[in-house]
Amino acid sequence: LKTAVLVSGGGTNLQAIIDSMENGSITNASIEVVISNKQNAYALERAANKEIPAHCISPKDFSDREDFGKKLLDTLLSYQIDLIVLAGYLVIMPEIVVKHYRNRIINIHPSLIPSFCGAGFYGLKVHEAVLERGNKVTGATVHFVDEGTDTGPIILQKAVEVKAGDTAEILQKRVMEEAEWKILPRAIDLIANDKLVISGHLVREK
Ligand code: GRF
Repeated sequence: LKTAVLVSGGGTNLQAIIDSMENGSITNASIEVVISNKQNAYALERAANKEIPAHCISPKDFSDREDFGKKLLDTLLSYQIDLIVLAGYLVIMPEIVVKHYRNRIINIHPSLIPSFCGAGFYGLKVHEAVLERGNKVTGATVHFVDEGTDTGPIILQKAVEVKAGDTAEILQKRVMEEAEWKILPRAIDLIANDKLVISGHLVREK
């Protein structure tokens, strides 16, 4: 399974995927290209360290979203990509890409969808909202990407305890370490080994 990993920041989820492919917890999959919308994303360094081709394709460099979408799609097709993995990627997927890659784009979101998701809920904001609401449990979700934001079929979820004294930073770190870095590689391995059944908006493991 040829994957493209799309990133915007530190790339710790990308690193978890790289490590999982190296230690065998992901089989039958490769990272053909890393694409970021931010020139200075450390995730691009992580790709370079492993000699994985990396590109910066920023919506700002295009006159309109259609052109950005076309460039993104052409780049993905040039690498014969089978699965797009959004790993801390903060740009809404252009419609042209969603249509072409129906049920072949997955995203990691740092909450138990449908709680604390949708536009505006990204990065620390998710964890600040969880602490503000007083939730005792939070977690992460891997889902297929459709035309909406965080609205596609749910593939995997993992719960994480909210602890007394947690700050948003502490909670984010726990959600990444205990949930994101585990379920995103696992979702890729399930797809690479054809272990998922999708019926409508419901996904189950074979
Ligand atoms: C983190 O907030 C993570 O919860 C979310 O994207 C952000 C950066 O992730 N998925 P990464 O370190 O760039 O993978």
